Formats: sequence, structure tokens, C-alpha cells
Amino acid sequence: MAFDIDMIQKVYAGITERVDKAREVVGKPLTLSEKILYAHLWDGNPTTAFERGTDYVDFAPDRIACQDATAQMALLQFMRAGKPKVAVPTTVHCDHLIQAKVGADKDLKRANETSNEVFDFLGSVSNKYGIGFWKPGAGIIHQVVLENYAFPGGMMIGTDSHTVNAGGLGMIAIGVGGADAVDVMAGMPWELKFPKLIGVKLTGKLSGWTAPKDVILKVAGILTVKGGTGAIIEYFGEGAEAMSCTGKGTICNMGAEVGATTSTFGYDASMDRYLRSTGRADVADAANNVKEYLTADPEVYASPEQYFDQVIEINLSELEPHLNGPFTPDLATPISKMKEAAKENDWPLKVEYGLIGSCTNSSYEDISRAASLAKQVSDKKLKTKSSFTITPGSEQVRYTIERDGFIDTFNKIGATVFANACGPCIGMWDREGSEKEERNTIVHSFNRNFAKRADGNPNTLAFVGSPELVTAIAISGRLDFNPLKDKLINEDGEEVMLDEPRGYELPPEGFAVEDAGYQAPAEDGSGINVVVSPTSERLELLKPFAPWDGKNITGARLLIKAFGKCTTDHISMAGPWLRYRGHLDNISNNCLIGAVNAYNMKTNFVKNQLNGEYGGVPDTQREYKAAGIPTVVVGDHNYGEGSSREHAAMEPRHLGVKVVLVKSFARIHETNLKKQGMLALTFANEADYDLIQEDDTFNFVDLEGFAPGKDVTIELVHSDGSKDVIKANHSYNKGQIAWFRAGSALNLIAAGNA
Ligand code: F3S
Repeated sequence: MAFDIDMIQKVYAGITERVDKAREVVGKPLTLSEKILYAHLWDGNPTTAFERGTDYVDFAPDRIACQDATAQMALLQFMRAGKPKVAVPTTVHCDHLIQAKVGADKDLKRANETSNEVFDFLGSVSNKYGIGFWKPGAGIIHQVVLENYAFPGGMMIGTDSHTVNAGGLGMIAIGVGGADAVDVMAGMPWELKFPKLIGVKLTGKLSGWTAPKDVILKVAGILTVKGGTGAIIEYFGEGAEAMSCTGKGTICNMGAEVGATTSTFGYDASMDRYLRSTGRADVADAANNVKEYLTADPEVYASPEQYFDQVIEINLSELEPHLNGPFTPDLATPISKMKEAAKENDWPLKVEYGLIGSCTNSSYEDISRAASLAKQVSDKKLKTKSSFTITPGSEQVRYTIERDGFIDTFNKIGATVFANACGPCIGMWDREGSEKEERNTIVHSFNRNFAKRADGNPNTLAFVGSPELVTAIAISGRLDFNPLKDKLINEDGEEVMLDEPRGYELPPEGFAVEDAGYQAPAEDGSGINVVVSPTSERLELLKPFAPWDGKNITGARLLIKAFGKCTTDHISMAGPWLRYRGHLDNISNNCLIGAVNAYNMKTNFVKNQLNGEYGGVPDTQREYKAAGIPTVVVGDHNYGEGSSREHAAMEPRHLGVKVVLVKSFARIHETNLKKQGMLALTFANEADYDLIQEDDTFNFVDLEGFAPGKDVTIELVHSDGSKDVIKANHSYNKGQIAWFRAGSALNLIAAGNA
């Protein structure tokens, strides 16, 4: 499992020269984000000052991490690239396929039985191609990466939106689709639009009930789910330095919820402590030798307005604990305002479940602080009113918190400890009674709270808070409980208050683990056979998509005009569908079934223009495909926000959709559509969305001249014979147009032409 100190030394050996050169080229002091970006240019030393938010740049990431749900398709794609080994250090983590039900041991055993085929596939592909493999139960990808692989000043990509978590250790870590990861595994550069930069200055110091989570919940309230799009958020200031490294990880983790490309913090003593505590003193020593290159130039933080595109300032001494939700992570409510907000919105006050842990919040600090509250239940003769669960982020954390008595403390309040896996955070929670779809409230310390995300029930209102606040609320059983002010009545009828949470940044006795769950790859994997059964319903070897015929697309029909929020969860639902992540045809049966049809406000109910009948989206699309009719999906703002799953792009492509035309895209999804050879367009005039009618035919009349920066003309033919001609923009550069021509980026790689 050993991290690659030689690789890290190499990065640090080059960083000084590259950053000094970048400063010269850019002509001004550099932020940390710029230093890391310029130090990882594919072409070596910087020669150009890139324009933020405009220039596409090729980078050379140091690492790749994949989780089991996305790794299946990524590795199936990598197998098609024809390479003997991955080109950069890569790991695969089995965390998304473990359903939480009764508790860690039984749940893990069941997952090993039901997903055995997938775990075996991932294990053998990893073994063959030089990939480190973290077995089921080893932990959640981002926690394992933070503990083992993240390093200050590094750049990594991962096939999961919350890869950004590694910013807590001063990395630029970015969530990508599997197709991007495959490029880098295959030794190709990774392309990114040079991000804009948002600086967040943290003054003051966290104390009492306020936790790092509240910083990002506050930032989410300010920026909203779209506010970070295309930007890196760089945190700095005395408040940042006073915070633990894992707390920084929590903040960076949820940068995904504001759409940020990633978030990061400058190297400081908290990172040094965390590296040493997790057995990486040599990385800390190496980082200390170049530490001025692992944070911004001093002028930047002294006058941030001059160097960032936007600056936000938060005084941590005045920050209140927050609860964000329901149904969106940017609806931020300070705990002192929750009574009012809950009443106004008629949110059910009874809290059914408090769930802590996940990749976002299962550090030793989080767990020890939450345990300090759980301990007060018996000390103060209280009873925990809500059900309570913990999902530890890694076996190392689980083992250590068990050794230190915290699991025992949680057990005493009736907690269920789930496996070290995603579980309820990704809908892999077999919650008793959720099929009744009753309106109810839960609180959790995860990051996302879209409808159905935790338990599949659209009527579960999920609120996101720090593990401390979630624990306190679970003890009280009420959404509007403010532990800073409110009293609880104990078994003796006395009024008691919970004391402020207390914990440890790092385990005083150090971390420990018996079996971390890691499998190193074979030195020479050439003799290893990867078997995929042709009758498998979960895995299917890929066939290449057809190239573009170079002609205009004409006579295309509207498959669906999606109304409002359409995340990758709406396009390719998670939950039970995770089962088919490695089988493109089978998983395509969930294509767009969560999107709301703008004409009838129903999900999975669209008009089939071949016969005028209404039916499910995938079935209708299969009929268009069988009839050889191209189709178009129309969408609203930030289409494809949410997780990085490339299935949301591959499924419509597989089913024969040609074009996705929206008001705006979420970055990862737009890139994924391009990689898969789809035409991803945005309305030049957003109001044209309203011109699209249910029976429209689309003619893309000048596609034959498809070129960078040139808009696309679309003729809309309405059912009464009238026409509208509208313009659409696109962001394809020359290389991306080559993907479109070839049918997909992978087709180009496989042909050796990329
Ligand atoms: Fe897993 Fe939820 Fe994190 S799905 S990777 S625990 S965001």
C-alpha cells in the first residue's frame, strides 16, 4: 500500500524550478492553486500565462483513484486501450457496492456474496494492470486516499466527485469521469479549462459547537450549488491554519456541492502533523524542504482581491453551527434560526435518524467529538430519541476508534455501526419502511441530500450538519434543537444541557490497524486473465461507438425536455442501479428516468412521436433507435450537476441520443458527453428553451462545418409546420472535435491517433 515517496520527491524536485518560471511568465505573485497547476503542466516548464476560465490546458496528474462503481466502466474502457500497465499510480476502492442494513459484519458478508463477480473483476483487472486494490470493507475512497496517498502540492484525479477531499492535504484533486481517468491511465495528458480562483479568507478560530463542516455549509449558502462552477476555492488565513488537516478535508470535500472544480489549503503544521500521524514522516520532511512552494506567495494572502477572481471572508469566531437542506445542500440555516425555518416550511420536527461518518466526516477528530456527546447520554441520564448510525471512513479509523472505546460509547446509545463504506450516503441503505414513502426527517453528516439520495424515499427530508450537531440532534430527537441554548429533560425529570463537544485532532496513541484491506498488484501482470462472462447481467465488455458520418443531423426528434434540476442522479439513477454499472445495456434502462418532463411535470413519461403514445424514457428511446431516428435531449441550467458518473453520458449515447442541448452544463458532465462522442450544446439565447415544443423536429443545418468557437444553427420544425431558427454555442476545441468525429475519445486512443 506504500505511497510512492520517489514519485513525491520527483514532484518536489521539479516544483521549485517550475513555480519560479511560472511566476516569471505570469508576471505576478502566485496563489497556491496556480503553483500546483503550473507545476503539473504536461509540457513541462511553463511558457504561457493561461487565461483563467478560458484556456484549455493539458496536465500531468500524479495519481488516479477510482471507486468500485465508476471503476468498472473505467477499467472496461482501459482494457480497450490496449496498454500493458497504467501509466501513473492508480488505486481502486471497493466502497459503493456495500448496502447498509443491519451492521458492518453481516452487511459486508452479504455484499461479498452479491457483488462477488464485480469485486473479483476489479481485483483481477487491478492485479493485471499494476493498480493498487482496496478490498470491500477497507474504507471509503477519499478517506483512504487522505490517509495514504494525498500529499501537499500534488495533483490527482479520481472517478468520483468528492475526490476533491484530498485538498485537505494541500492537493489539487479533481473529480473526473471514467473516460478522463482512462486517458491518464493510458499515458495521455489530462485536459482542463484553466480554472478561475475564489479565495476564502478564514479569520478568527472555531470553537465550541462550531466545526469545519459549518464553514463549508456557510460557503454553500453564499455560493449556492452553482457558485463555484469552473473555479478552485483556495482557503487561507489564521482560521485555516488553526484547523485540523481532516477538518480541511471536510471543507474541500463539500466544495463539490458548490460546483467547484476543487478546493485546497496551503501547507501548514496541521498537515505536517497528519502526515506523521499516518506514517508518512518522510513526506512531511520532503514537504518541509519546499514549503514556500506549497502555499501562496505572501503578497497573495496580504491583498487577496488583487489575485483571486472573487474573495469571501468568514469570521470563524462568529460562525454558527448550520444545518443545510432539505433536498439541496445550499439551503443553509444557522441552528439559531431552525425553529423559525422549520415552522415556516412545515418540516417534520421529529428526527427519525441521525447518521454520522462517510467520506466527508469520519476523521478521528469527528468521531471523538461526536463520542463526547454520546457519552453524556448516560452521564446525564438521557435517552437517545432518534436512531443513530455510524459509517467509518476506513478500517484504520474504525480499528482506532474501537481501540479507544468510542464504538463502545456509541453502542451504549443504541448505535448501528455500518461497514467502512458509502452505504446510506449513496442510497445503499436498506432502511426499514422507506418503501412506504412517508414524509420524515433525517439529519446526517454526509455531503449530498438530493431527494431519494439516502434511502430512496422521495419524502425523506435530509439535513446536512457536522457530526457533533447531528449527534446532539439525534439525542434530542428534534430538528429544531439548538444545543447551544436548549435544555433536555432527563430520566429524573431534570433539565440538562449538553456540554460542548470535545475531541482529539489525532489519536493520542496513534493510528492502528490489523488488516487495512489492501492488495498490491502483481509485478508482471501479463499472465493474468480477466474473465467476463458473456451471460453476466452486471458486466459486459464494451464495443466501440460508431464514428460521426460528417453530415448534418436532420430529422432528429425530442426525447425529453427536462424541467429544472437535472443532476447525474436524475440522468442515471444510483441506488439499486449501481448493480449494473459494468453493463452498459442493462444500466441504460435507467436513462433519464429521474428527469422531469417539462410538458407534463412527470418523471419517466414522455411522448413517443412515432405513435403519439406516452411511455418510459429508455423504452421510448429504444424505439427511436430501432427506427434509426436520431434524438435530442433538452435541459435547463447546470445540467448534469452532481456525481461524475460517465454513465450519464454513455447511456444516452448507447441508446442513440445524438445531442444534448441545455441552458448550461455542469463541467464534468459536459466533458463526459464530449468524451463519448455526443454533441453537447448550450442555447445561445437561454429563452429559446421555451421555443422547444413536444412534437418538434430538429435539423442541425451547419454541423458539417463544426469548428472551435463557431456556433451551431438549429432549425426547429414545429408540428404545425412553422419553424424557428436558433443558435447554440459549444465549448469543443480541436481535440474534442476529433473525439466527436471518431465516435469517442477512446476510439481515438485505441486507434493510436490521440
Ligand atoms: Fe461515498 Fe458518499 Fe463519499 S457515496 S465517496 S461516502 S460522498
